[in-house]
Amino acid sequence: MIPTVEWKEGVIRLLDQTQLPGRTTIFECKDVAAVVSAIRELKVRGAPAIGVTAAMGVALGACSATETDVLALTKNVLCVCDQLAATRPTAVNLFWAIERMKNVLWKNRDRTVREMQSQLVEEALAIQREDIAMCKAMGRHGAGIVKDGQHILTHCNAGALATAGYGTALGVCRAAREQGKNIHVFVDETRPVLQGARLTAWELLEDGIPVTLITDNMAGAVMRQGRIDLCMVGADRIAANGDVANKIGTYSVAVLAKAHGIPFYVAAPSSTIDIMTSSGSSIAIEERPIHEVTTLHGGTWIAPKGVHVLNPAFDVTPAEYITGIITERGIFAPDQIAETFKG
Ligand code: MRU
Repeated sequence: MIPTVEWKEGVIRLLDQTQLPGRTTIFECKDVAAVVSAIRELKVRGAPAIGVTAAMGVALGACSATETDVLALTKNVLCVCDQLAATRPTAVNLFWAIERMKNVLWKNRDRTVREMQSQLVEEALAIQREDIAMCKAMGRHGAGIVKDGQHILTHCNAGALATAGYGTALGVCRAAREQGKNIHVFVDETRPVLQGARLTAWELLEDGIPVTLITDNMAGAVMRQGRIDLCMVGADRIAANGDVANKIGTYSVAVLAKAHGIPFYVAAPSSTIDIMTSSGSSIAIEERPIHEVTTLHGGTWIAPKGVHVLNPAFDVTPAEYITGIITERGIFAPDQIAETFKG
């Protein structure tokens, strides 16, 4: 399995996704500052993977703290939680994971510093294990939708690299393949950071799943030619009404899918569902640095210097465009989300 994020003897080891597909290098986080910059710079990315990494970041902060009483340690760790929470605003998994770590602080307030530290490490590892289990369960539910011989369009990277392993949208593809179905995945390159071209195409090739890379602006034409049977994407946050925030460009794919009568599915674990947010219009959308748009992979300029640029990292797909949401608990219509996942 692709080792997206690993906790090893008090160090967080990340497969540096900014270097893929050219180089597979490990970025070691030995302090919280390294975790914060790794998340901001997309060394680790994808909603569930960000959550797992942040949880490990909280554990790392606790283990490297020098406080000798639990109250002082708790104050320190709460500051770490704030630093990690300020890294990226859209994926709710980040805040969900930090909340779980804060609960550990609260539940263990009467324990020793040592015990508190080991409970925090345990919780981070549990979040990692549970994420893999949720991806596998989504795969089992979602694979039923995929028929032998189908062509699936995906956007961004919702694979093993975006999770603790196996993936959400790509987990469904993997599971269909494991059931012996012949599938073919079309991948949008996903400008501006190219998660589709660099990461999804790489992951699928590594797994021997047939893949065709297209530029984002080809999706409509490819659908019109009848070459896509199904769209399958991940999510960064799902609001109570079933609106879905995901990588910029997802909305365009959903609109195109509807126009061509193609089912559009979202695969996401319950840690991505935020029923406290009533609709997609309340979801904070991250604005990223403009060099991601004006340069290619931080190098060659492809736009005139000084041009005005927009770079929202995510968009919101309204529930009406979504055929179904695949979760570890089953497949639901968008309007079943609030009722199913309340408390
Ligand atoms: O900016 P990124 O690369 O973190 O954005 C990732 C996505 O939008 C994914 O589709 C989403 O997090 C789902 S990952 C299972």
